[in-house]
Amino acid sequence: MIKLAPSILAADLAHLADEVEDIRRAGADYVHFDVMDGVFVPNLSMGLPVLKSLRKCTDMFLDVHLMIEKPLRYVEHFCDAGADLVNVHVEADSVENIRLALETIRAKGKKCGITLKPGTPAEAAAPFLKLVDLILVMTVEPGFGGQSFMMGMLEKLRSLRGMLEGVNPACELEVDGGITPQTAPLAVGAGANVLVAGSAVFGKADRAKAIRDIRNS
Ligand code: DX5
Ligand code: ZN
Repeated sequence: MIKLAPSILAADLAHLADEVEDIRRAGADYVHFDVMDGVFVPNLSMGLPVLKSLRKCTDMFLDVHLMIEKPLRYVEHFCDAGADLVNVHVEADSVENIRLALETIRAKGKKCGITLKPGTPAEAAAPFLKLVDLILVMTVEPGFGGQSFMMGMLEKLRSLRGMLEGVNPACELEVDGGITPQTAPLAVGAGANVLVAGSAVFGKADRAKAIRDIRNS
């Protein structure tokens, strides 16, 4: 079963509670929450206070994507603020500190994941394969919504699916960036089972149709 995770980066943030309720009714599975620090990526977005407020008004699964340097400093706070899954970039710190971050998230009773930027090879996930519930493959350079899907990432998805076989077959494989009804089937065909979509869901007036169009593509 393919899961849809609309990214609220593309939502009307002045009406976030309504926007999230709209995608819940439209059949979304996760809410994708993008956190940017202006250092790891050249942009800023939202953080802890917004997550805390959102947690109070929805019981949807909150998938938090941390695009921040040295995430170990903050993972515990994001768990306490209401994340269901916290995802850290492997490029954001040493292998040892990323492992510590994942262990910290798990000790808080939450799910954990790692993310790979487009330039990062599948092998960078190797030290973490047994520790994670989800691996996120960026299919655009992180930092901005509305970019085009990078076809070159399909090979990385296939490699990761292969690496997980036998080691952690239940691990979810998520893609983020440029997902549309055209690119979704390519990502799914390469092994992805969770699709993040910002513009292709929140950019459309009819979110139920937008989600259906991606799911049935
Ligand atoms: C980009 C973010 C994405 C973004 C995707 O750095 O991680 O989640 O919102 O936006 P679209 O789906 O418009 O490419
Ligand atoms: Zn994201």
